[in-house]
Amino acid sequence: MTRRVALVTGGVGELGRSICRRLARNGCRVVAVDINVGREGDESASWQREMATAGLEVTLVQGDVTDFDSCEAVVRDIERGIGPVDILVNCAGITRDATLRKMDKAKWDAVLTTNLDSVFNMTRQVIDGMTERGWGRVVNISSLNGEKGQFGQTNYSAAKAGMHGFTMALAQEVARRGVTVNTVSPGYMDTRMVRAVREDVLAGIIAQIPIGRLAKTDEIAAMVAFLASDDGAYVTGANMSVNGGQHMH
Ligand code: CAA
Repeated sequence: MTRRVALVTGGVGELGRSICRRLARNGCRVVAVDINVGREGDESASWQREMATAGLEVTLVQGDVTDFDSCEAVVRDIERGIGPVDILVNCAGITRDATLRKMDKAKWDAVLTTNLDSVFNMTRQVIDGMTERGWGRVVNISSLNGEKGQFGQTNYSAAKAGMHGFTMALAQEVARRGVTVNTVSPGYMDTRMVRAVREDVLAGIIAQIPIGRLAKTDEIAAMVAFLASDDGAYVTGANMSVNGGQHMH
């Protein structure tokens, strides 16, 4: 996939960085779009320098995936400065866990807009170019909990299940134009998001994982890279579970 342009949302988060690194290693020109770029405490610039030292090219762009106009501006800038987007990885996502009884509208809205509206906001900007050029890859990062539901995550499970509905519908619309659309559903990864789960709750979850440990972000990135490659051409509308066997279907 030499020199293809890959846009990764949530690109400076822990999973996002793994995906960016992997795609860059495969020769892509990677653009990490993230609301946190340039914010206080953001360390993405030093990560970008480390990547450059290793010969891996990543461009950092500040952008808000909940805002359609911000997405449009970001994509038009990338097209002008780097080139048209060939690969889109919708990886931006947050949690606001609470049982429904305790869930306020702010928690619902934050998760639905960041995790689901974002997929429309970003994909809408790139899909025409992909179909016109006859090659494209969209990979939506969903979750195990979108497949099986999770206590305390009505918002997150709904958004993540919704992402795969989007995947299946769009995959049908663009299949004849060389564009594939797939979902990757990671299980529990060793990231800050997962470590925020109460210790006893998390211990109970790990006990249910047949492989017996959390996933490494690189193990998810490898699946994304496959789907984004030429080798993945015949996989579309699929939901690839990468969950250590925690949920089999
Ligand atoms: N199944 C059944 N009952 C459960 C339960 C479960 N999984 N978890 C808790 N309960 C019970 C409790 O025992 C408790 O019972 P009592 O009232 O009889 O004592 C009752 O339900 C209320 O539960 P909590 O007291 O735990 O409610 P809470 O408000 O304190 O906690 C919560 C809610 C923080 C959301 C907690 O349920 C929780 O942490 N859930 C797990 C959330 C989770 O897995 N998040 C994943 C984040 S990472 C991620 O999302 C990445 C990814 O894609 C995988």
